[in-house]
Amino acid sequence: MRICEALKSSSNVLSLSEIENPRVDSEILLAETLGKNRSFLLAHNHDSIADSVLSTFFLKVKERSRGKPLQYITGKQEFYGLEFEVSPDVLIPRPETEILVEETLKQISEKPFNLVDVGTGSGCLAVTLATYLPQTQFWAIDLSETALQVAKKNALRHHVTKRIQFLHGNLLNPLHSRVKKDSIDIIICNPPYVSLDELILLQREVKDWEPHLALVGDVSESNIYSRLASQALHWLKPEGILILEIGAGMGGKVCNLFQAPWNLLNVLNDFNGIPRVVVIKKAV
Ligand SMILES: C[S@@+](CC[C@H](N)C(=O)[O-])C[C@H]1O[C@@H](n2cnc3c(N)ncnc32)[C@H](O)[C@@H]1O
Repeated sequence: MRICEALKSSSNVLSLSEIENPRVDSEILLAETLGKNRSFLLAHNHDSIADSVLSTFFLKVKERSRGKPLQYITGKQEFYGLEFEVSPDVLIPRPETEILVEETLKQISEKPFNLVDVGTGSGCLAVTLATYLPQTQFWAIDLSETALQVAKKNALRHHVTKRIQFLHGNLLNPLHSRVKKDSIDIIICNPPYVSLDELILLQREVKDWEPHLALVGDVSESNIYSRLASQALHWLKPEGILILEIGAGMGGKVCNLFQAPWNLLNVLNDFNGIPRVVVIKKAV
């Protein structure tokens, strides 16, 4: 079969399965299988594909037709210019989460810093920041052991393992016996913030494939933002900063949780103009 024929056939399969961009997804999967980029496909439209490559490609198309996100099939996602390994054990890093990276880089100076990433998932935040901040020491925490395995691989891939301690546990609890009270400069967190009512309305790629612990968290526990607010006060230095991602429409409620001794510094909008990141400072 030729490249053009394979793409036509796979696009039909994906379109029948109501995949949003059947042609683009087909091209990405075929390019990936061939170990080439998408422009190669255009230039070699009439080249024949070996049977073994073809069967691998159609296996991937079948997975995609079941709604599996492309990133879990290719095993990778770009975040802030770096490539991250992803698997169904971790949330696929989103572009709006890059705002947390930018804001953290703005808040930090040249001197050595201590930074905690709560709910590290793929490690996209801690690993990216570690590549930009060679003087900073990181603790990256997650309640999911399997997510931490992925995060560790990403730290290895980007050569920052020496400066990130990966800890298993609930919110900031794993810091006990490892870190002194009032000693952390910055805490960042993109917590699970999807409600159960919202979850069922999400596209199947998200609700059927991404980890529910990353989307809705542990539903038996109370509000994750209020727990973070009280725990972060214990660990942050005076004037330490907490940077949180929030869900659409959560700005008012989350900001209200941070009364004195907190000072609200900023609320940053995402690319759609939705308040997405809250920056709060602990008083002196
Ligand atoms: C929305 S994902 C964020 C992942 C990654 N930081 C990112 O921005 O792509 C939330 C992460 O928090 C973890 N998590 C959920 N509840 C937690 C808790 N109580 N304590 C620690 N981690 C938690 C999940 O396993 C998941 O990896």
